[in-house]
Amino acid sequence: MGVITELDAIRANGACVLVPTMGFLHPGHVELVRQGAREAEARGLEGGCVVSVFVNPSQFNDARDFAVYPRELERDVALCMDVGARAVFAPPNEVMYPPDREIRWPDVPKVGRLPGLEEVGRPGHFEGVCRVLVRLFEVVPTAAAVFGEKDFQQLQLARSLVEQEAMPVEILPGPTYREADGLAMSSRNVHLSEEGRVRARAIGAALREGRAHDDPETSERAMARVLAEAGIERVEYATVRCAHDLMPFEPGEAGRIPGRVLITAYIDDTRLLDNMAWPA
Ligand code: PAF
Repeated sequence: MGVITELDAIRANGACVLVPTMGFLHPGHVELVRQGAREAEARGLEGGCVVSVFVNPSQFNDARDFAVYPRELERDVALCMDVGARAVFAPPNEVMYPPDREIRWPDVPKVGRLPGLEEVGRPGHFEGVCRVLVRLFEVVPTAAAVFGEKDFQQLQLARSLVEQEAMPVEILPGPTYREADGLAMSSRNVHLSEEGRVRARAIGAALREGRAHDDPETSERAMARVLAEAGIERVEYATVRCAHDLMPFEPGEAGRIPGRVLITAYIDDTRLLDNMAWPA
């Protein structure tokens, strides 16, 4: 089918599994698309797997970051079609932000407003993400949507958002794909210098060290130590949270409910995120 840019055409597409992206796809995204195609097939969805490619202006904190965000639609379409996507939905801005009617900004669910996580370094980011997701689910007939665990807070946000908005969309988690040395795949990795690329391994090492302990405070101290030893100074957070709502563990809760270790740190001015299940 190829690229769809028109509202009518995407609305006429049958129920599908949607893989929302901002394009410039890396091999980790491609695996999520492959998963989306499998899930659509398993559910017998006539719309197949649809990948959306939309660089969403309202989720950028920095206008320059938005302006220079890499766009490679033709290459993205070829990659998606290759692994079984039915179509790529690449809407113009007016479709996502119609100028002729009032735009609804959904409330950001609690999991997206927690102190100590993404809100610290990217205030307002999740408002833009919620806005674009609700709009996508309105215009694309989405039965299910795939979100990578790499952005774990965003995955939990999507789950809470569809519940809050009573949207019948099943949220499907996709695993984090890693480079051979363990670095989580991300479109941002291309910005790392050679030396920074090596230093970035410490993020995965810190997470692995963190999940080796079953007490949250010991884990957090261990992660801080590994990051400091690698010379990573700009750490936004290196924390252990309950996996389902990303709240800190209450005393006595650890070990009884699943947790998550999460790190966001800067290397060479590039903001990198990663997380793993806790404890190991
Ligand atoms: O993860 C992303 O690429 C974006 O935040 C998303 C989910 C496509 C919304 O713009």
